[in-house]
Amino acid sequence: MNNTDANFSLLQRQPNVPAKFFWPEKDVIPSEGDLELPIINLSGFLNDETETQLAAKAVREACMDHGTFLVINHGFKSGLAENALETSSLFFGLSKDEKLKAYRTPGNISGYTAGHSQRFSSNLPWNETLTLAFKKGTPKVVEEFLTSRLRDERQEIGQVFQEFCEAMNGLIMELMELLGISMGLRDRTYFRRFFEEGNAIFRCNYYPPCKQPDKALGVGPHNDPTAITILLQDDVVGLEVFAGGKWQTVRPRPGALVVNVGDTFMALSNGIYKSCFHRAVVNKEKVRRSLVFFSCPKEDKVIVPPPELLEGKEASRRYPDFTWHQLQRFTQSGYRVDSTTLQNFS
Ligand code: SIN
Ligand code: FE2
Repeated sequence: MNNTDANFSLLQRQPNVPAKFFWPEKDVIPSEGDLELPIINLSGFLNDETETQLAAKAVREACMDHGTFLVINHGFKSGLAENALETSSLFFGLSKDEKLKAYRTPGNISGYTAGHSQRFSSNLPWNETLTLAFKKGTPKVVEEFLTSRLRDERQEIGQVFQEFCEAMNGLIMELMELLGISMGLRDRTYFRRFFEEGNAIFRCNYYPPCKQPDKALGVGPHNDPTAITILLQDDVVGLEVFAGGKWQTVRPRPGALVVNVGDTFMALSNGIYKSCFHRAVVNKEKVRRSLVFFSCPKEDKVIVPPPELLEGKEASRRYPDFTWHQLQRFTQSGYRVDSTTLQNFS
């Protein structure tokens, strides 16, 4: 029996949470309120110079502070985001045996897990996940993984996720430009170029109700090793960001997507933008769902900050050269990358 199979049963509603899902006290300190985040209206952005500069300033402040902001009017086809969330419920509502057909085998990105941690047998996350590798230029790659594993009548699941990933991918390109403007780059497309041929990882998170939400976590405190993360959460609170020396809640806002800076973009900004330190807490009564799109730069492109960030008084590079290919292998070897380890990475 693999650990997903075993942990699936433990995640079912029960009065006591097994000890392997407990987290150290310092990690479960409760949130101390809501985090005020800038809301960037992407429909105005780039059409109006004043609005663009205001958006750029708000993004800059948030990214230098904690690495998180919200975007609205992202231009997705009407109903797509809601449909993707509902489709994730459809997947997680399948029988255990059916989900296990899409089980994530060790060393692979794509697949289903329950209470799975790459490295630990304790401090397990109170979640089920479905992770799918998204590859540009390989049409239907997300869809085909699921088609090959699920029954014929479930094909719609893969189709919806494929369409959602294409839309998220388009948004990454727009965000790279916004980030370039926010850093005052002479070449606004500098960051985009790292991602035009990059890939991404898409993850659906499903957090079942948990009888001891003060002891367990949906996802423990971490930084995303990838570049920029776009996250859609349902209407149940759970995402928290460490900002101003305390945990703060990112309250769900209808129609908004959360954008987080990850370690790779932090390096690309020469450490000026912070990699967002975050976690997901669980709920006693309600299921919570989130859909997360992690952008990865082109595998072999060396992460070098733009020249103007290396000019002037603080001209030194804060991070060594690395490629996503190297960093990914480093994270897969079982090491959880955070800002400190990235500094030591070579
Ligand atoms: C994650 O950071 O992996 C998930 C966060 C969330 O579910 O809100
Ligand atoms: Fe994350």
